Amino acid sequence: MLGKAGQIGRELRHTLPALGELVSLGREDVDVCNQQALRDALSAQQPDVIVNAAGYTAVDLAESHRETADLVNAQAVATLARYAKDASALLVHFSTDYVFDGASTAAYTETDAPSPLNVYGATKLAGEAAIAASTCNALVLRCCWVYATHGQNFPNTILRLARERDSLEVVADQIGTPTSAALIAAVTQRAIEGRRRNVLASGIYHLAASGATSWHAYAQYLVAGAAARGMPLRLSPDGIRAVTSAAYGAAATRPHHSRLDTSRLAGALGLQLPDWAHGVDDLLDQLSDREKCGAPNS
Ligand SMILES: NC(=O)c1ccc[n+]([C@@H]2O[C@H](COP(=O)([O-])OP(=O)(O)OC[C@H]3O[C@@H](n4cnc5c(N)ncnc54)[C@H](OP(=O)(O)O)[C@@H]3O)[C@@H](O)[C@H]2O)c1
Repeated sequence: MLGKAGQIGRELRHTLPALGELVSLGREDVDVCNQQALRDALSAQQPDVIVNAAGYTAVDLAESHRETADLVNAQAVATLARYAKDASALLVHFSTDYVFDGASTAAYTETDAPSPLNVYGATKLAGEAAIAASTCNALVLRCCWVYATHGQNFPNTILRLARERDSLEVVADQIGTPTSAALIAAVTQRAIEGRRRNVLASGIYHLAASGATSWHAYAQYLVAGAAARGMPLRLSPDGIRAVTSAAYGAAATRPHHSRLDTSRLAGALGLQLPDWAHGVDDLLDQLSDREKCGAPNS
């Protein structure tokens, strides 16, 4: 598994050992931008399943670092796909809701045409295309608004700012589904088992929690939940002002609607994906327990 220190990678270290021996690699083991180093790592390990949780995920920074984003999100993925094809290995790869332009208010299915608005989405789509072109055995899991207790993510940022400030502006015109890395890791394990049993065909699947919200309502939910758990904050939910994406002015344009229709994966595996708020409640419980023990929260 590549990307062992990332949000999803850290959770996969808990779920993948149930499937067999797991070798987890991080940036210090192999820089995936170095194609030869990547090929050497694959030859040394000879995996029968490659799980790629490495990715260039800084959406705004990618606008000015297209080359690196492309190396990590597209070219490294092409190398993995070629290896998987030649070695008859299964490649499991994570892609994103940001391959869509968000013009549709309906949840996106796997057959909807992608049309990314930003560099990150374009490089992720190029990674998907490289996998398809290789015709390797693959599960491409498109995820949405990923968070974990660790890492630089939306909940950790909002809760840090909520300790420092009494007002905040958060974008209200982007709708998606907050999804925990723990849920993704658990379903990834099930999906690999499903592929081995031929319950799942090789291809693209959407993987996200159920329901949808805006970044603004998500921030309010986090702050209200943290306050209810006794976490000391300066900010109240009413102090979070809704702004438009245009007024916020992030470097990367993001889709207004990127809800994913997960029925293809859920139907094949017999899963009921939980409402996004369940996962966020779990996160808040864990962060609040950690705070009571005096441990740092990111
Ligand atoms: N985060 C989201 O909201 C989201 C949404 C949809 C899909 N996804 C996809 O899910 C996957 C995992 O996301 P995540 O949230 O777990 O990402 P993350 O927390 O940013 O982790 C990505 C990992 O990739 C590693 N990495 C980046 N460049 C590398 C390189 N050149 N060589 C080796 N390792 C490298 C990073 O290493 P360092 O720790 O050393 O930087 C990090 O551990 C990505 O493919 C992403 O596109 C994420």
